[in-house]
Amino acid sequence: MKGLILSGGRGTRLRPITYTRAKQLIPVGNKPILFYGIEAIVKAGIKDIGIIVGDTRDEVMAAAGDGKQFGCKITYIHQPEPLGLAHAVLTAGKFLGKSRFVMYLGDNVIQNGITDLVRDFETKKPNAQILLAHVPEPSQFGVAELKGGKVARLEEKPKKPRSDLALVGVYMFDHNILTAAKSIKPSGRGELEITDAISWLINNGLRVDPYIIQGWWKDTGKIEDLLWANRILLDELEYSVKGRVDGKSLVEGKVVVEKGAVIKNSTVRGPAAIGAGAVIEDSYVGPFTSVGRGAQVRRCELEHSILLDECEVCDVGARIIDSLIGRKARVARGDLKPRAYRFMLGDQSEVGIL
Ligand code: G1P
Repeated sequence: MKGLILSGGRGTRLRPITYTRAKQLIPVGNKPILFYGIEAIVKAGIKDIGIIVGDTRDEVMAAAGDGKQFGCKITYIHQPEPLGLAHAVLTAGKFLGKSRFVMYLGDNVIQNGITDLVRDFETKKPNAQILLAHVPEPSQFGVAELKGGKVARLEEKPKKPRSDLALVGVYMFDHNILTAAKSIKPSGRGELEITDAISWLINNGLRVDPYIIQGWWKDTGKIEDLLWANRILLDELEYSVKGRVDGKSLVEGKVVVEKGAVIKNSTVRGPAAIGAGAVIEDSYVGPFTSVGRGAQVRRCELEHSILLDECEVCDVGARIIDSLIGRKARVARGDLKPRAYRFMLGDQSEVGIL
């Protein structure tokens, strides 16, 4: 089997972060989201992985490299325009050949990996296997209707969903999906939808098995989802302090402090991760916080937030919570007169003030 990971897309719901960065490279639980997908596929025994890349291809290629760090071989496939998931499958046609494959959306994370699911697909040999999860707001996803344990109907983001079963962003296919993708027309949003391609398989008598997952799953398309995933994944880390913690600091709970990080006169209460080279001084870093590499936090309180690499957060008078702070962004109290808020914010930034 082969693996196909989708890491194109524009990540419009995560702007302004995604103006400059691939959403799949935002770290959750101290690791880029994309790496969870690669690792899950490798763990399932698949070593030949194609990654679909778009505008952010250089950055994705620099991060994942040739795959050696994961024990696999990575081939990059350029999709010039994000024209839908089924279009991505077509773009990868040459790489896929006649292989059976698992397609994994690079911004999805699922609990317990996919090893059992891949085994199931390989044992039962359906033409496709789709993963489903019960969700509270199905209209944001592809939705499946089951009848007698079989997939009766699929709809992409229906206004009136017929069930609460969302399509998880992990699919298993044989080569028939290529024929399906060639046979469908673009949807209302102008994309070749994978949901329509799977419906085509069903309507043409091919076997599509549903698999309802029991563990958690997250499509990290929005900030709330990123913070949610960060919370869950930080909680799975093991305590490991390799950086320098001075005698006036307290580090408690599940905390990872990477080599080269410095913690001075501060409290870090886990689950939390402090990246290599970060400095935490006279501060409180509370549960569910990831501080990126080289970030600086001084005289501040933080909780339930993700700080990307090399940002700086200093002397903010109130606790920062539920926040995502971009690379090299700076949030600091200024001494200039008149006393005022002074902002330089990128397009579509959001600031909550007291
Ligand atoms: C895509 C699929 C949708 C699926 C979702 C899972 O939606 O089109 O069927 O439920 O991924 O993450 P998108 O996130 O591209 O809007």
